[in-house]
Formats: sequence, structure tokens, C-alpha cells
Amino acid sequence: MSGEGSLLVVGTGIMLGAHVTAEAKGAITEAELVMYVVPGVCEEWLNSLNPRMESLHDCYAAGKPREQSYDEMVDRIVTAVCSGRRVCAVFYGHPGVFVNPSHRAIAAVRAKGLPARMMPGVSAEDCLFADLGIDPGGQGCISYEATDFLIRRRVFDPATLLILWQIGALGEASVAEMRDTARLAVLVDRLREEYADDHEVIVYEAASFAICDPYIKRLPLASLVESPAPAMSTLVVPPAKTADVDDEWVRRLTR
Ligand SMILES: C[S@@+](CC[C@H](N)C(=O)[O-])C[C@H]1O[C@@H](n2cnc3c(N)ncnc32)[C@H](O)[C@@H]1O
Repeated sequence: MSGEGSLLVVGTGIMLGAHVTAEAKGAITEAELVMYVVPGVCEEWLNSLNPRMESLHDCYAAGKPREQSYDEMVDRIVTAVCSGRRVCAVFYGHPGVFVNPSHRAIAAVRAKGLPARMMPGVSAEDCLFADLGIDPGGQGCISYEATDFLIRRRVFDPATLLILWQIGALGEASVAEMRDTARLAVLVDRLREEYADDHEVIVYEAASFAICDPYIKRLPLASLVESPAPAMSTLVVPPAKTADVDDEWVRRLTR
């Protein structure tokens, strides 16, 4: 990718400096312009890899719809690429997991006939499987964005691991953090349709620094509202039962 604008989209991983892949680090180091949306603590580290950087954080503003902020990020990335620069766009965690502008920027750059590619990274879910000792292949796994889960009344199976993202921003159309535990109570009401009050759930936040432990709080479902969740936490609802085996499908597989 040289002589014309191009886009590489990479992730930092969750733990500062420790989770970035060799591939992503190379892309950051060699870019003509690094455009980023990462937590403040990552900025200095990014700058040490490549000082040719431009923050996209100013696309966010309290009260501004997130969709509008994402549109602006995509526009800025595409404009930089179209001006002929080799751009590396950096996002937190895995750049393609619960990140809206990364996928859209790639599609928009490709639509202009220019090369664009995403490199995988370490997501919060990867950390979750490691820290909680859960294998998603065990009883299956389904994950939803928490607000989407509620407002679309998503179908789920209590025999399967359920992961709910962005519980700290329930019902928020902007970047503001949820301050109101009443919204968490709404989520609990929905979950109580399928799980007992004493069903154990886990509020999880992976460590951002090597010297810190992950935040892992196990509590009965009904107590969730009494315990404010850290801003970046994810809710884990382990299966409540084992799925039945359907003899008809077993018969079809084994005859
Ligand atoms: C906009 S998404 C970004 C996800 C990120 N791209 C990734 O790969 O994990 C933000 C949500 O990811 C989850 N998340 C981010 N950081 C986390 C952490 N350190 N521990 C647990 N969940 C985290 C939370 O559900 C949070 O609300």
C-alpha cells in the first residue's frame, strides 16, 4: 500500500501496551497518519509509537447522538485517506467488536477504490473468557448490546451463556454514562422473566494495566441494581440449565 491513500484499522487490545498484536503495532508505527479513539491512558503510549497522530475524540460531545459522532469519524478518516495518506485508525480492544465507525470507514474507503483492511485485536470478550475460565464452546454463547437486547426484546436461551455489553450506557443515545440505576432495574426485570432471583450473574471489567486485577463481582441477579457497575463493565449471565438433547436430530446424525 504505497503511492496512494490507504487504510489499516487496528485495535489496542484491552491491557495498555500488552495486548497490541505485532501486526497492529507495525501498522501504527509505519502509518503516515494515526487517527484514534482510545481511552486517555493510551494516548501517550500511542504517541511513543508514532507522533503523527490525530485524535477523533472531538467528534463526541455530551448530548450529541452517537450516530452523528460516528458519521463524523468516518468522514474524517475517509478524507485523510483520499488526500493520499497511509492512515492507521486505532480503536480500543478489537477494532471490529462493538465499534461502528471502523467497519463503515473500511467500506467507505473501498467504495472510493482505495485499499482498506482490518487487523484483529484482543477484545473484552477474549479477556472475559480467560479471566472467568469460561469456554464459549461449552454450552454455547450469545452476546448482545444491552440496550439493543432490551428494546428489541431479543430472543435468548437460558441454557446458553449470555453476555450483555455496554450495561454502563443503558438507554444512552449519546456518550454520557448512565447515572441512573433505575435503568439497570429494567434490565433485571427482563432477565427475571427467564432466571431465578438468586441466579448468579457476574459484573466483569478486564484490567487495563498489568499491575491491576480484573474486576469480577458475582452476585444474585436480584441484587444487581444495588451494586453500581464500573463504567466499562460487561454483564455475564451463566447458563441456568443444560440444554436438552433432541433424539430426532441424534437419530438423523447417527443412522
Ligand atoms: C464500545 S464497546 C468497545 C469494545 C471493544 N472494541 C472490545 O473489543 O472489547 C465498549 C463496551 O465493551 C465492553 N468493555 C470494554 N472494555 C472492557 C473491559 N475492560 N472489561 C469488560 N468489558 C469491557 C463493555 O461492555 C463496554 O461497555
